[in-house]
Amino acid sequence: MSDPLIWLDQVHFQYAPDRAVLSDCSLRVHAGDRIGLTGAVGSGKTSLLRLVVGLVRPTAGRVEVFGRTRTRESDFHEVRRRIGFLFQDADDQLFCPTVAEDVAFGPLNLGLPRDEVRQLVTQTLADLGLAGYEDRVTYQLSGGEKRLVALAGVLAMRPEVLLLDEPTAELDGVAAGRVLDILSTLPHAMVVVSHDSSHLARIAHRRVQLDQGRVISV
Ligand SMILES: Nc1ncnc2c1ncn2[C@@H]1O[C@H](COP(=O)(O)OP(=O)(O)OP(=O)(O)O)[C@@H](O)[C@H]1O
Ligand SMILES: [Mg+2]
Repeated sequence: MSDPLIWLDQVHFQYAPDRAVLSDCSLRVHAGDRIGLTGAVGSGKTSLLRLVVGLVRPTAGRVEVFGRTRTRESDFHEVRRRIGFLFQDADDQLFCPTVAEDVAFGPLNLGLPRDEVRQLVTQTLADLGLAGYEDRVTYQLSGGEKRLVALAGVLAMRPEVLLLDEPTAELDGVAAGRVLDILSTLPHAMVVVSHDSSHLARIAHRRVQLDQGRVISV
């Protein structure tokens, strides 16, 4: 089998000294893998995703991404460019005044030409059922609309791997179905956190669960 794109190797992690969140936690994500990650509230799912992109660091063990062990902040710059991370809380992700600016921010930052970015924004919003939302004020959107805009921003970056923290939370059946349809057609390796097993059944090839700080197969 090819080398994993992401390899958490016996990772330990804690926010406070006396309470381990992850202990001896290992996970490998290969090209084309579509992993559904479940686990109780507070079991460490978000923390696991944050470790992959270096928003938090392990206290022991190793984080390998795209074939290199990542330890320092500078090691993670490339990781964050190549991995799209949808935050659990869209308010943490959105920061531009309008929807179009928010979705365009990443691609412009990557140096894509403005015309191309404008088309990319229009297409990505339309794919997610948000045609005509370009000039809407981001902070006035509903929770579900914010989640879709945040997802549009992630997808518009054309990442190689997707880490999606509850992408269908707060969405109605129609919007969730649209998101699941899109995700199920993407070729990317992805890790999708969800409490909804019917949603995971539609997109994940493999299901894992966080249990007492470790990843177990379910
Ligand atoms: N910044 C922080 N400082 C201290 N403790 C934290 C912090 N963030 C999370 N925790 C704690 O770490 C544990 C794991 O949190 P995490 O957010 O990773 O869980 P989760 O599985 O994503 O939960 P949920 O299903 O509610 O999203 C929880 O007990 C949480 O209270
Ligand atoms: Mg979480």
